[in-house]
Amino acid sequence: MPRIAVIPGDGIGTEVTRQAVKVMERAAALSGRTLEVTHWDMGAERYLRTGVAITEAEFRALAEDYDAILLGALGDPRVADDAHLREILLGLRFRLDLYVNYRPNVLLDPRLSPLRNLDGRPVRVDIFRENTEGAYVNLGGIFRKDTPDEVAIQEDLNTRRGVERIVRAAFEYARMRGRPRVTMVDKANALPAAGSLWRRVFTEVGAGYPEIEQDAMFVDAAAMDLVRRPERFAVVVTSNLFGDILSDLAAAVTGGLGLAPSANVHPGRHALFEPVHGSAPDIAGRGVANPLAAIRCVALLFEYLGDPGLAERVENAAVAAIAGGKTTPDLGGSLTTDQVGDWVAAALAAAPPRSS
Ligand code: NAI
Ligand code: MG
Repeated sequence: MPRIAVIPGDGIGTEVTRQAVKVMERAAALSGRTLEVTHWDMGAERYLRTGVAITEAEFRALAEDYDAILLGALGDPRVADDAHLREILLGLRFRLDLYVNYRPNVLLDPRLSPLRNLDGRPVRVDIFRENTEGAYVNLGGIFRKDTPDEVAIQEDLNTRRGVERIVRAAFEYARMRGRPRVTMVDKANALPAAGSLWRRVFTEVGAGYPEIEQDAMFVDAAAMDLVRRPERFAVVVTSNLFGDILSDLAAAVTGGLGLAPSANVHPGRHALFEPVHGSAPDIAGRGVANPLAAIRCVALLFEYLGDPGLAERVENAAVAAIAGGKTTPDLGGSLTTDQVGDWVAAALAAAPPRSS
């Protein structure tokens, strides 16, 4: 029986996760499967109360006792610099070595794109973001703090091993899913050391995938093309920082943060699923948060657990909610977070998977 650890977190993280768990349990029940779901109390409240974000024992339990982790979002204006977010989320990404951050951006309905020149062209941009190094390793420091001569150094770490494994993951995915092209995004013109390593590794690994088109782009040009002609992209592989930024842009182009799911994976070992969005303190507690990103994470989770039929059932129900206007205000609907969750859970029965 798959064991799932659920970390609702802060703000709308708790609101959308409640809906995701509802849908996950209903979907499992409909197909006669049982899941063991355990809720974990981690987030700003506990951090403010106890000064502890996550303990060693909890890291170990999350690493060893679960098949997958489902996380809402972390972040609270009362916690300076979101220290608990870094400890918990970045802690899990680094300690479980979740080197693949997979962020699919699919235009599920042409009406969802803010771009007015798409003319019905399909958009699907699968971003493979390197998730364990780059600018997010927090190597560096501040010198002569609070003086006019203050210096801040923030290093960008790129290893051959790290670049190789994320590039290979992107190509493997493209091959498995029949995606026509892998685009590597960097800034090799201005950051030539990292760019040189990424480009050489991309060419070396890409040689094993001759059937897949391969190209490299600078990140500024890629940002422009995500808006100007997003249909030119299929699979994108890039660094931690560029992947973070481009995935918010790709999400916006395909319907917004309220729809975008993500998976943090060490293939064969560990996986953590979370919506791309944060805790959205500006709308927390009002019942208007869109739960579809969190719900679509459940589809990614079922797929990871080896149940593509169940994944498809969840994804189809989410798509049906959008098609039927059963959505929160960010997508033009008038339902609450809870009502969308209920609607999707009820639609599961009517949205049988095509494949199983
Ligand atoms: P955010 O993603 O929380 O919100 C950005 C904007 O999108 C806001 O206007 C928000 O209302 C809207 N939005 C986000 N998710 C939505 C949803 N499901 N439905 C409807 N509207 C939605 O990003 P922001 O405001 O930069 O960060 C807020 C907090 O979240 C910060 O503490 C930040 O550090 C944290 N954060 C946490 C992440 C995580 O846990 N993985 C990721 C990004 C931010
Ligand atoms: Mg981000």
